[in-house]
Amino acid sequence: MKRKGIILAGGNGTRMFPVSQVISKQLLLIYDKPMIYYPLSVLMHANIKDILIISSAKDLVLIKKILKNGSDFGVRLFYKSQNKPEGIAQGLVLAERFLNKSKSALICGDNLFTGEKLPLKLKKANNSKKSIFFLKKVNNPNEYGVFFKNKNKKLIIEKPKKKISNLAVTGLYFFDENATKIAKTLTKSERGEYEITDLNNYYIKKNRYKQIILNSKEKWFDMGTSDRIQKASNFIFKYKNKMISYYPEEIALNKKWISKSKIINKIKRHHNSSNYIKYLKKLIVYDK
Ligand code: G1P
Repeated sequence: MKRKGIILAGGNGTRMFPVSQVISKQLLLIYDKPMIYYPLSVLMHANIKDILIISSAKDLVLIKKILKNGSDFGVRLFYKSQNKPEGIAQGLVLAERFLNKSKSALICGDNLFTGEKLPLKLKKANNSKKSIFFLKKVNNPNEYGVFFKNKNKKLIIEKPKKKISNLAVTGLYFFDENATKIAKTLTKSERGEYEITDLNNYYIKKNRYKQIILNSKEKWFDMGTSDRIQKASNFIFKYKNKMISYYPEEIALNKKWISKSKIINKIKRHHNSSNYIKYLKKLIVYDK
């Protein structure tokens, strides 16, 4: 069975107050498009076409308005509401029916990955039988799950107080078909969450995982605070012409999941001077 994708776009977004009172973090603009386009693009680069978006019922209304059923991007989008955000691993439980025992790729809705070779790595990850974590060296490992390894053991420690390693576990995980079953057995951590770190440690213990360490040319942004949003946005703006595509229409066109006419129709429907539409116009060479 083909691997399916999950975007976790929930959370209270309290770190985005006051805007969080009215809008989901994942809809905030990162340069010319909503934040959620970036994780969606990552899954599309990995060749994943069935994608479940999990968020609160209130935020899903808005997210659906923008992304619809995915046909504009040649993918199939599904939606699942979450009453209360209780950790990343909860996403796999909420996705049980959608996954229907298939392999999964779960990405946090506020994560941005860049790098020329990334699509290749993502496609390889998609073909893997083992679970995969993407790691990245960071200066502030105490804010993340951290991968620790010595002669006797390997494990991930969630937000370690002491510096044990600088390899952070990013918010992108490829799981085998057993992830939901295992996630269901987890208990809540002290912070009241079903921790993705506990699930990952299960796979490490069973030696059913692989790690991919992102290199220095491959950047990772967790856009969970207003500072980090600013940083990510600046980065995208500065390097916008040198990046892999985060325009789902372009990714789909290159993969032949949609035809040019679909994009032309979209441009006609949304006749405006936004940077996004300008970009789509450049993609299309009109026949006279
Ligand atoms: C979560 C995970 C952590 C991971 C991080 C990546 O942290 O618990 O292991 O490194 O996402 O974004 P949280 O966003 O819940 O603080």
